[in-house]
This record gives sequence, C-alpha cells and structure tokens, in this order.
Amino acid sequence: MIKHDKKTGIITINTKNTTYQMQADTHGILLHLYYGRKIHFDASHTIQYADRGFSGNPYDLGSDRTYSLDALPLEYPFYGEGDYRNPALIIKNEKDGSLGLDLRVSDIEISKGKYSLKGLPASYGAENEAETLSVTLKDSITGLTVRLLYGVFEGYDVITRAVKLTNEGTAPLTIKKAASAALDFLYGDYRLISFYGRHAMERNLCDSLISHGRLSIGSNRGTSSHQYNPFVILADSGTNEDFGGCIGVHLMYSGSFEISAEKDQYDQTRLVAGLSGICGELDWLLQPGEDFDTPEVILTYSKDGLTHLSHNTHSFINNCVIRGSFKDKRRPILINNWEATYFDFDGERLINIAKDAKNLGIELFVLDDGWFGKREDDNTGLGDWKVNTGKLGMTLGELSRRINELGLSFGLWFEPEAVSEDSDMYRAHPEYCLRIPSRPPVRARYQLMLDFARQEVVDFVYEMLVDIFDNANISYMKWDMNRSLSDFYSDALSKDRQGEVSHRYVLGVYDLLERLIKRYPDMLIEGCSGGGGRFDAGMLYYTPQVWCSDNTDAIDRLFIQYGTSFGYPISAVGSHVSAVPNHQTGRTTPFNTRGIVAMSGTFGYELDPAKLTDEEREALKTQIERFKKDYDLIRHGDYYRLTSPYSDKELCAWMFVSKDKKTAVINAVSLNNHGNPVFKYINPKGLIPDAVYHIEESDEAYPGDALMYAGLPLPYALGEYEGIQWHLNLT
Ligand code: GLA
Repeated sequence: MIKHDKKTGIITINTKNTTYQMQADTHGILLHLYYGRKIHFDASHTIQYADRGFSGNPYDLGSDRTYSLDALPLEYPFYGEGDYRNPALIIKNEKDGSLGLDLRVSDIEISKGKYSLKGLPASYGAENEAETLSVTLKDSITGLTVRLLYGVFEGYDVITRAVKLTNEGTAPLTIKKAASAALDFLYGDYRLISFYGRHAMERNLCDSLISHGRLSIGSNRGTSSHQYNPFVILADSGTNEDFGGCIGVHLMYSGSFEISAEKDQYDQTRLVAGLSGICGELDWLLQPGEDFDTPEVILTYSKDGLTHLSHNTHSFINNCVIRGSFKDKRRPILINNWEATYFDFDGERLINIAKDAKNLGIELFVLDDGWFGKREDDNTGLGDWKVNTGKLGMTLGELSRRINELGLSFGLWFEPEAVSEDSDMYRAHPEYCLRIPSRPPVRARYQLMLDFARQEVVDFVYEMLVDIFDNANISYMKWDMNRSLSDFYSDALSKDRQGEVSHRYVLGVYDLLERLIKRYPDMLIEGCSGGGGRFDAGMLYYTPQVWCSDNTDAIDRLFIQYGTSFGYPISAVGSHVSAVPNHQTGRTTPFNTRGIVAMSGTFGYELDPAKLTDEEREALKTQIERFKKDYDLIRHGDYYRLTSPYSDKELCAWMFVSKDKKTAVINAVSLNNHGNPVFKYINPKGLIPDAVYHIEESDEAYPGDALMYAGLPLPYALGEYEGIQWHLNLT
C-alpha cells in the first residue's frame, strides 16, 4: 500500500510487515526516512540539521548552513550538489564536460500493477498483487529526468526498485554511474553478509562489519561471477537465523556490478547497489530524447532474522521472478553425461546410458558438451552448432528419437555466447567476437566471446539455435557460459560508445533468452556458467534453474548450497549425484549422502549407471522414489538451516517443513569422525510445538516442542560423511 501525503511530502510504502518511507522536503530534495519493521507514524522527526564543517549547502539554500546533502539521508544520492559520499548517480554534461547535477522532485504517481523495464528482467505481479510508485526528479540545467520506480508486493514484504533516466535536454549526457538503489541509515551498526567464491567453490559466506572505509563487492567480468554474488544481506549487528533485523538485496542483473556499503563521517550508513561498466566505469552516452533503464533491485526486510528473510526471498523468486511452464510443473529428474563420458562418446554409448537410466527411474537424458562441430576437447568447435554425425554415428533427430522411444525426454548443452578460434563460425566471421582491433584478445579455455552487444550476432546465433530446436525433439537446454569477458570492443558501436559494450552484451543475452523462451515455452532451460558463475535473479527470470556448481562433491556442496540458500530457492539449485572418488575433490562419500545433498536441489545424476554396484543401483531407485514422494515438501516447503558448516564443524543439518507444518524432512551429514565420539543432537525448527510427529525412519513419535527444544539425538558414531534423513508426519 502506497500513500502520498501532499501536505508533508511524505510517501509511505507499507507491506504486510514492513514500512518504507521517504519525503520530498520543502526544497524538493527527496530524503530517505525509514526502512524496517512496520511503523504507524511518519519518521520525519528523526531528521536533524546542524551546521557541519566542510559539508556544503545548495546555492538556493546557501543562507542555511545547517542544510547539507552531505549529512542528510538521501533516497537517490547523486554527485554534484555537495554530497561527498558514494553516489548512486554520476552524470557528465557533454556540453561542457561538467559532472554537476541537482535533482529535485517534480512529480509523484501511484498506479496499480508492476512497472516493467525495457529489455531487462524484472519481477512481475498481477494488478491486485503489486503497485507501482514513480517519483520523478529533474535537473533543470541538463534536462535529465530521473524516474525512481518502486514495485510494491505487499503480501511478499518485497519492494523492488529501478530507475529510468531520460535526457530531455538538448545536449548529450554521459551516464558515468547509475545504481539501481541506495539505502541510507541515520545511525546503527550493520553487517554486510555477502557470498564470495571461485570456480567450483561458489557462494561462501562472508560476514563483515560495516565500518568507516568502503566495503565493496562486485564483478568486473561481464557476468555476475563466481567471485561475488549480486545478493547481499544488510543485517543489524546482533542478527542471527532467528532474531534481528535484516534486509535482503538482490540485484537482478547478470553482468558486472557493484554493491558497496560504508559508514560515513557522521556514523550514518549507506548501501549502493547497481550495474557497473568496465572496471566500474559505465560510460553510456544518452543523446537528447534517449532513455536508459537500470536493472531492478529486490528488497525484503525481516525483523525475525535470516531464516525468515530467506523464506521471503525464496517465495518471491519462486512466484514473481521465475516464469514459464516450469514455474509450477515438476522438474524432470535428469541424467547428464558430462562426468560420465566427458568428450568420449558416440551415439550408442549415450543410448546405453539412457537405457540404463530409464530402468532406474530417471526421466530426462541430457547430452552435454562435445556433440557438435569438431569438438573432441574444449579447444575447438564452439560456434559450430551443427551436430557432429561422424562422432555420434547418427543425426541428432535420430538420437533424440531413440532416447524418446526409451521413454526419456532429451536435453542438449549449448554455449551460445562463445566461439573457438578453430571453428567454421570464427573463420567466416572473425568480426563477430569481442576484441579490440589494435591488440590480441585474452583467451580463456581457448575460446573468445561473441559480440552480443551487436544485434546481428544475436540474430545469427538465434537462427542457428532455432535450426537445431526445430529439427529434434529437445525439451531441455543447458545454457552454459565458460569464461569471464574481456576485450570490450564492438565493431557495431562508434568510439564514443565503447563504454556501453559490457551492458549491451548483457542486454543481448537477455534478448536471445527471451526470444527462445517465447518460441519454445515448454522447453526447460537450465542456466550455467562453469557451474554457478551466473547464478542471479536476472538469469532466473529466463532459466528457472541454474547448475549450482561444477563441484559435485557432496561435502563441498554442503557449503555451496548453504551459501546459496540465503538468497535463492531450492527450485533454482541444480544439483546431481556423481561418482566417487569425486572428480573435483577426490573425496569418497557414501551414495546415500550424495543423494540427500542432491535432493536439496533440482536433483539428478551425473555418472555412468553401468559403473554402479547392484547395491548402489537399488539405492538409486529408492532415492528417486523418495525424491518423488518428497517433491512437494522440498519444492514448496519452508527451508531451515539448522547448523552452519562454518561454525558447526561436526555436523551439517537442514530441513524442510510443509506450509501446513504437517510434514517435514530433516537432513544431517556428519562432517567429522573422532575416537570415542560425543553424542550429537540437532534442534529442528518450524514444527507445531504441541503437535505429535511420527518419525518414519525410527517409527517413534514425539511432540514438536520436544524435538525442537529438547533436541533430536543422532545415531551414535555416525560414520565419516554419513548422511541421515528423518521424515516427520503429524500423527
Ligand atoms: C562447464 C559446465 C559443466 C560442463 C562443461 C562442459 O564447465 O559447468 O557442467 O557442461 O562446461 O564443457
């Protein structure tokens, strides 16, 4: 619910449990008043004014030495009118090269339904589910119009933000920086919880105190990256899983970005989140009449700790970000041949794997890398999206038909954004890749990236993909992307527009994805970038699931999936059971543990079933039956982290509780083995305290409070990496 009090200039956004407030003050400056748990008054009494040294005053208010943008909480801080903190917006006036701006409120509109953004992913909601607030700010000198957009999802406790910039002046402007949102807080101690990592070890949790000196995470790589995820949590200093205030910030963007937080000279805290250009600099030319949309930021506030925050973000991403038929439909249990064969296969070997998989209960066969062009290893062939019939011994049509005849659906791997130098595509169109004419490009995995900033290239790739999808029965696509971008130079743009390439590239990727999902609405697309290098809310708008990591080791996955769970729902987390010793870590874990960990995701297999023992084959069948039975609970239930793998060295535990709290599944994996071991316990969460639950595995029954507060003992002396599940049903 959005309210605008014209007399005071106060705009209040209320969701079920939260309030967000701003004020167009008497000078037309848009102040940020409040974001947090629901309040029933305005918070304008918290704003104080004082004569501050070295904090300047806008010229028209110059006689009031207590009014300085440097000290006030601002809704969308810009550079040029005396605020020296980290700005959200920096604009260069090309008429004289100056960086000044003075944005004053000119218009406030409230409407039903949710705004959308041009060419960018944005959450969606029905007219009765979402409202839009638009606050227009203007700079009289440049003619720049800034529309601050707020999408309000009352029932989800979510507020989204984005910004539309329009050059209504007569001279060109250059956008040097345009963040999606800033949040100012007048006082308090905050932590920034962010998720860092590397290839095959993504989304490790980093919990830092925000202090003086800027704390900044982001990506320079043209993708959101393995290194830092564009989801962070701003938490009150005392917040934990169950108590305390925290704000989730999802930047819905898949390219370079920056999220930074800082305590200023007056102990006020500012967070700024948005896209960035090459090395942080966005140099986007905005000619008179042109406009520019920033990506969206999704904000949610929880007064009840991190678990509740995750429940909010999970339900919002599941319902208002993920689209298409697989938003609600059960996702297929798949087998992927990558770790089973790597590049070493022919059609018959694949069909044998598929036959075996079918007998075990698997539903979808995915053919990974190596089926096209001249691709015997990862040095060649990218870009030649034509099946290698010599290698397969059959056409793709025949392979997919034979797999379908077995009763499995068929999926295929692509890396549409890349090209190998040793490929027919590169030989025909060297100008289609990103590279600086005067210097050789950076190579990575022996491949270059296509210039997706150029429409012609996106169209070319689209036609190649359509040719394949139209000629075989493909119900799943794995969209991979296996390097960081570099050499941001596009032949299609003039020299004064090269700063736009990295963002235009992302827009090109979104464009191709949008066209594919429109043309093949029943195809499931799984995103991937060397595993989870582009695991973000932007990609989830197009691809309902993302391969979470190239690391399939169950123990490392406990860490990776733990970190991922703070911002992303289980439905998005691609996870498979693979062979042991694990190919990434060399570790051997029990088959049961691998199943338990993979089931807390989309679930599938990445191994050659012919290499399994009879016992493992039986276990695999049981896993599949179990997963199908638990599907609704895992997919729609509430997810609880019961331990942290960072602080609980002995055990990792988590659980799902159905919305009606009638069923639950508790999962635990032992991390350590010692002589004369101690007894281990876990404390389940989310159960009805005075209801009695029957535990399927032990055939015992206990009240919810006895389990949650007194605890649930683990079997004595669990073996190393042994996993265990308990299924609870209300008696
Ligand atoms: C990336 C993906 C893997 C696999 C390989 C194929 O690393 O993350 O799952 O598809 O590429 O080359």
